[in-house]
Amino acid sequence: MKRATKLCDWNTRSTGPRGSPTPPHARRWAEAAVIRPYVPLLTPVIPLNDDEPDPRAVTKAAGILRRGGLVAFATETVYGLGADATNPEAVARIFQAKGRPSFNPLIVHTDRVEMARDCVLQWPASADVLAHCFWPGPLTLVLPRAANIPDVVTAGRDTVGVRIPKSRVARALIEATGRPIAAPSANRSTGISPTEAWHVSNDLDGKIDLILDSGKTGVGIESTVLDLTTSPPRVLRPGSITVEQIREALGCEVLGQADFPPDPHAHSSPGQMDVHYAPRTPTFRIEPNAFEALPREGRWVLIALGETPIDEGPPGRRPDRQIRLLTPTEAEASLYSHLQAIDLSGVDFLVIVPPPDEPRWLAIRDRIWRASRPWPASV
Ligand code: TXA
Ligand code: MG
Repeated sequence: MKRATKLCDWNTRSTGPRGSPTPPHARRWAEAAVIRPYVPLLTPVIPLNDDEPDPRAVTKAAGILRRGGLVAFATETVYGLGADATNPEAVARIFQAKGRPSFNPLIVHTDRVEMARDCVLQWPASADVLAHCFWPGPLTLVLPRAANIPDVVTAGRDTVGVRIPKSRVARALIEATGRPIAAPSANRSTGISPTEAWHVSNDLDGKIDLILDSGKTGVGIESTVLDLTTSPPRVLRPGSITVEQIREALGCEVLGQADFPPDPHAHSSPGQMDVHYAPRTPTFRIEPNAFEALPREGRWVLIALGETPIDEGPPGRRPDRQIRLLTPTEAEASLYSHLQAIDLSGVDFLVIVPPPDEPRWLAIRDRIWRASRPWPASV
């Protein structure tokens, strides 16, 4: 594989006049490179602006996708690892690069509703309503799969998840490729989803062909996945679009995760596997102010979610760093970035005080439960 330097030089020239200040996302990139200076960047990185994606960068990325390669790009939720969804060999490379189990299906991304309709066998009226209300945006619709979507994308299921992402880079890339793009989150399997380009590189450098760096993603957690093949529809993965918003849009009953029993066949409940989104740092969730029970030794970080008052902790057990995320939007936008930074910092453990059990915190609670173990007993 070619070294990154050439392409990065090419691109730095393409993003603005010579001598213009390094854009913030490129600065972040440089910082990340300083943190791991000994790791060669084998996968080229092209910075570009989401407000006005450089057509040369988009054309280059689309060419790679059309030839069966893998390109990581930002959506409004997290970075995705894209391949041409109609090319089974290309899609198989996604599973290889991520170490993803073959039974876990991928979401197909399109830039227009017509292209999404081409990926499915039936397009119910409810899909029209939801597309109108939430697309482009962080909602994935699971529908019966059309013949042009190969088995490898859907893990052999007869359904497919489709969505139109909001980021301009993502839509420009799909448009330039002219094909639906299969894209899971661009992280190693079971790791934290990436919200910045250097997170992708940390996990997948050398395993993929290109990273388009358009800075930090806005929403910050993965899309809501809604199964429209059941009646009533079911939310398979909570996200920033809530069950209540979907109910309101459809004007009918919609089941949240808690409203239907977990599928006894783990493999047929994709997205619902317990180990998911996990940091490398040992991560515990505790009741507010249960710090007494924490291990006596070691450097640690505390993330407190919601507005519950948190004690300073007993003397000698104060966290080395404390992060407060007061609202669901703030937490969704930055939780994964904090987890990535904590993993790099080398602290001994992370303690999370979960937010209250309220519908608006559902998606964050879901991610925290998957990322952590209870301490000392069940929380
Ligand atoms: O926001 C997102 O959804 C991001 C961006 C890149 O679009 N993508 C993402 O993909 O999170 P991934 O592969 O990391 O998660 C997709 C989830 C998985 O839990 C998968 O099992 C579920 O969607 N899924 C995909 N197709 C499905 C299907 N046909 N039936 C049920 N679940 C499906
Ligand atoms: Mg994922």
